Amino acid sequence: MLAYFNGAYLPLEEIHISPDDRGFLFADGVYEVVRIYNGLPYRLNDHLARLSYSASQLRLAPNDFSFLAEVVRRLLSENALTGGATVYLQVTRGSARRQHAFPQPPPSLTIYAAAYPLDEKSLREKRERGIAAITVCDHRWARCDIKSTALIANVMANQEAVERGADEAIFIRDGALLEGSHSNIMAVIDGELRTAPLSNYILSGITRRAVLELCRKLGIAVREMPVFQNEIPRLTELMALSTTFEVAPIVRLDGQTVASGEAGITTRRLAHALRQSIERLCG
Ligand code: PDD
Repeated sequence: MLAYFNGAYLPLEEIHISPDDRGFLFADGVYEVVRIYNGLPYRLNDHLARLSYSASQLRLAPNDFSFLAEVVRRLLSENALTGGATVYLQVTRGSARRQHAFPQPPPSLTIYAAAYPLDEKSLREKRERGIAAITVCDHRWARCDIKSTALIANVMANQEAVERGADEAIFIRDGALLEGSHSNIMAVIDGELRTAPLSNYILSGITRRAVLELCRKLGIAVREMPVFQNEIPRLTELMALSTTFEVAPIVRLDGQTVASGEAGITTRRLAHALRQSIERLCG
C-alpha cells in the first residue's frame, strides 16, 4: 500500500516518523477521516475546510490544505481503490526537541495520508440491524470542536462500549447527551427531532451537517438542543451519525431496548435520504 508522507508517495513500511514528532510526544496534531464511495470522495471540501479550522485552532501554519484533494485522488488511483474506502489525513506540528511551548523556529509540519478499503457489508448490516450504545461520563477536554488526535478519552469510552457488547459510547456532560466517541447523535423525543447544538463540546460533524440540510429539504423540524439523561426513558428514536456509520439506528442503550428495538420512521427516512444524496454525488 502506498501512503503519502511529507510530499512523497511511499510504501507504508518505508515511512518512519521521528520519536521527536510532537504528534507522538504531545498528540499535537489534527486529523480527518474522509469516506470514499465508488472511488470518489464524499464532501472532501468540507473535510479539508474542517482540517484547516482544527489546524488554525492549534495555531499550526501554514493551514491551507487544499493540496490534499490531489493527494487523496492520487492515493486512490495508486492503490487501485475503486470501491468503498476511507482516507485518513493527519497533520502534526512536526518534530523538535521536547518542550511544551511551540518550538522556535517552527519545524515543518508532518503531513501523512493513507487510504484503506472499507468493509461496506458489515457497515450496511449495522445500518440495517441497528447498533448498541452505552452512556459514559464525558472526560474530554472542552475543545471537542477541534478534530484533535488527542483521542484517549474517546478511546477509553469506546473500549468500554466494546467490553459491554456495544458499538458506541455516548458522552454525558452536565446531564446532556452530547455526541458519541466517534459520531454525532440525533434523537426523537416527544415527536421532535433533537441534536446537540454546535459548541466547544461537540465536533461539527460533516454527516450531521448533511443530515440537517436534508431535514430542511424534507421539511423535518429539528430542535438543536441535547437530550438529557432524565429524558432517556421517553426516547422513541436514537441514531448515530458519522462518516462511517452514515445514519445508524441505536436500538439498545445501556442494555435497554430503545422504543421498539428497531429503526424508527425518522431514522429510516434520514438514512435513506442521506444514501440518495451520496449516490447523487458519488454514483
Ligand atoms: N469520527 N464526533 C466525533 C467525536 C467524531 O470523532 C466523529 C467522526 C464525529 C462525526 O463526524 P463526521 O460526520 O464528520 O465523520 C462526531 C471519525 C469518523 C473518526 O474519528 O474515525
